[in-house]
Amino acid sequence: MTTLLTGIAELTTNDPHYGRLSDAALVLEGDRIAWVGRAKDAPAADERVDLAGRAVLPGWVDSHTHLVFAGDRTAEFEARMAGEAYSAGGIAVTVKATREASDEQLAEGLRRHIAEAVAQGTTFVETKTGYGLTVTDELRSARIAASQADEVTFLGAHLVPPGESSDSYVDLVRGEMLDAVAPHVRWCDVFCESGAFDAEQSRAVLTAAAERGLGLRVHGNQLGPGPGVALAVELGAASVDHCTYLESSDVDALAGSDTVATLLPACDLSTRQPLPDARALLDAGATVALASNCNPGSSYTSSMAFCVATAVLQMRMSITEAVRAATWGGARALRRETGDGAVGVLRPGARADVQVLDAPSVTHLAYRPGVPLTYAVWRAGQRG
Ligand code: NIG
Repeated sequence: MTTLLTGIAELTTNDPHYGRLSDAALVLEGDRIAWVGRAKDAPAADERVDLAGRAVLPGWVDSHTHLVFAGDRTAEFEARMAGEAYSAGGIAVTVKATREASDEQLAEGLRRHIAEAVAQGTTFVETKTGYGLTVTDELRSARIAASQADEVTFLGAHLVPPGESSDSYVDLVRGEMLDAVAPHVRWCDVFCESGAFDAEQSRAVLTAAAERGLGLRVHGNQLGPGPGVALAVELGAASVDHCTYLESSDVDALAGSDTVATLLPACDLSTRQPLPDARALLDAGATVALASNCNPGSSYTSSMAFCVATAVLQMRMSITEAVRAATWGGARALRRETGDGAVGVLRPGARADVQVLDAPSVTHLAYRPGVPLTYAVWRAGQRG
């Protein structure tokens, strides 16, 4: 079954060969892109959809979310808006609610949040464990995540559970917990921040994960300057996420590495932190991704369009840079941007992950902030 999308006023492909095309068309075949080019050259297809002058781009690649959770933290958010600082201590509230929830409740919450994201143009979702923090609860979080998300990350080192000693918890995470969870996940992440895990504890967990064949990611430099970025670069992590407080040495290290700087502006707004210095990173040559960090504590939004608009309006990213960071950048952060079934890119052989805006160009994502512009979505060839 082939589907021809035609009447595309502006097609953003993120592929150097095709670039950005006007008067374009796309052919989807099953879960893959089969053809990209000018509408006048389009081949015949089984089905034809006329997009009547709308813009088309790859679906958002949300490379950082925490969606296996239960419970509610509205009160914490209200307190923060009244002046209280975000300390990440609220993670323990979600851990308690998550442990008390049934598998079915966790799976239904995950389904609902992924559906919410897809309805807003997200077609590829990474999510993490990290609200279980026992071997049993991290394992079931990983299994539930793997049943629905495109990518799963183990975040047993999210917080030391209240009442436990940090060194013995690190030993548990890098031993028995990793042994149990590793078969169900592709990535391991650590919250390397004062109040969570220090550089040596983070290194111990990440090294143990690498020995089991997992790729590495780091939560770093979220609440203050710290060792997270340097550690991520040293260990060859695929991405370091947050990057809110960067020293110039961090920017230089990222620019000279393959580690993606994943920026989470919705989180910085929701926790009343400064926004990260995207301009310094881009100007230095670092690869930047944008992600939602959807979670019940620090960033309860699944809207990648909100992140893109914020990046353009408040972080001095161009619309082209922001759209690329939220698509190709996320794919690069997950090492999914190349090969058969690549995401974040529209070229023959890529996964058929397509979003159509109810607007003639991607510029409208920032020009009309807050307006729901998603017109249609195909996720792995399935119309959402
Ligand atoms: O990425 N920083 C640590 N983890 C999450 C916050 C989770 C929470 O507050 O529940 C984050 O912001």
